[in-house]
Amino acid sequence: METLIPIINRLQEVFLTLGAEIIQLPQIVVVGSQSSGKSSVLESLVGRDFLPRGSGIVTRRPLVLQLVNVPPLEERRKQDNGIKAEEWAIFLHCKNQIFTDFTEIRKEIEEETDRSTDNKGISPEPIYLKIYSPNVLSLTLVDLPGITKVPVGDQPEDIETQVQEMILTHISNPNSLILCVSPANSDLATSDALKLAREVDPDGRRTLLVMSKLDLMDAGTDALEVLLGRVIPVRLGIIGVVNRSQHDLNTQKSLGDSGKDEQAFLQRHYPSLASRCGSHYLARTLSRLLMHHIRDCLPELKTRVTVLTAQYQSRLNGYGQPVEDHSSTLLQIVTKFATDYCNTIEGTARYIQTTELCGGARICY
Ligand code: GDP
Ligand code: NA
Ligand code: MG
Repeated sequence: METLIPIINRLQEVFLTLGAEIIQLPQIVVVGSQSSGKSSVLESLVGRDFLPRGSGIVTRRPLVLQLVNVPPLEERRKQDNGIKAEEWAIFLHCKNQIFTDFTEIRKEIEEETDRSTDNKGISPEPIYLKIYSPNVLSLTLVDLPGITKVPVGDQPEDIETQVQEMILTHISNPNSLILCVSPANSDLATSDALKLAREVDPDGRRTLLVMSKLDLMDAGTDALEVLLGRVIPVRLGIIGVVNRSQHDLNTQKSLGDSGKDEQAFLQRHYPSLASRCGSHYLARTLSRLLMHHIRDCLPELKTRVTVLTAQYQSRLNGYGQPVEDHSSTLLQIVTKFATDYCNTIEGTARYIQTTELCGGARICY
């Protein structure tokens, strides 16, 4: 799986160069009721503390989080270009400021949220944040305000509808994977997140369920039946996780320690499912789904690149053989670029196919 990351990153680069419409890269949208653990799940995916979390309405504007994979600092140093930090972040609303301290990132999200919203109000205006790191897979995650019913603070009477509309806008995009977060200590059948997901994805082709708070279930109950999909089946899978509790956050428990404790908890309580649960498994599942999405797009992508190549080639021919003509040199480069990418795409397709044939990860179907 790891070896595919650089290929996908290269593909993504070229999608951007050739125009983003050539392929709509998938984004993962996190949906759930308020305080179900959405922001916590996202943080464990990124592996860094940087999101405001807590009880009550904390996420009040959509956060579009673009993760960008970059080479490690050591490698970048050799070329002596770019930013001298292993990981850094940039907000769209203050592009010239480079954040390397993740605590500062959280503060900026909080302050930017307050700048555009009143006391506990929400706003559909997204905050755009890009995180550059050698430790992330390039993908886009969207954190949304939680589903809520009763207005608090200066929230409008129709807060429930407003939040729902905001969520629907993001999950209607057919390229969105919908990550429903539902806490284990409330009944899955009442999950508003699943209900909304069904509206836009009735066949469940792009909905994945995360069952959070496995540690908070009443004594004598467990989530086994739910996790096995016997209560409500979810096509792409149901993955149980244990995030940090409020107490853990207050005492600044690290994500590393939390991951270890999560594994120990799963081994103790769900030994038969432990290898198919937990934040780490969730991250792997998401990158696999991402890969499948890209594979599904490959035939169309290849056709488009071939057409582009032909177009450039014929324009190139139209120019004759000028040696000093820079525009033609540029076209040649683009053509070569496109041809190379056709080969990369074919390589990727073959790679994914072989992995599948070898019985690679196919647990979640
Ligand atoms: P969001 O509102 O859905 O984004 O939820 P947050 O991620 O902000 O979490 C809300 C509260 O639930 C925080 O106090 C978290 O510490 C707590 N929390 C989230 N997930 C878990 C979990 O799996 N177990 C426990 N015990 N607490 C959790
Ligand atoms: Na919350
Ligand atoms: Mg949140």
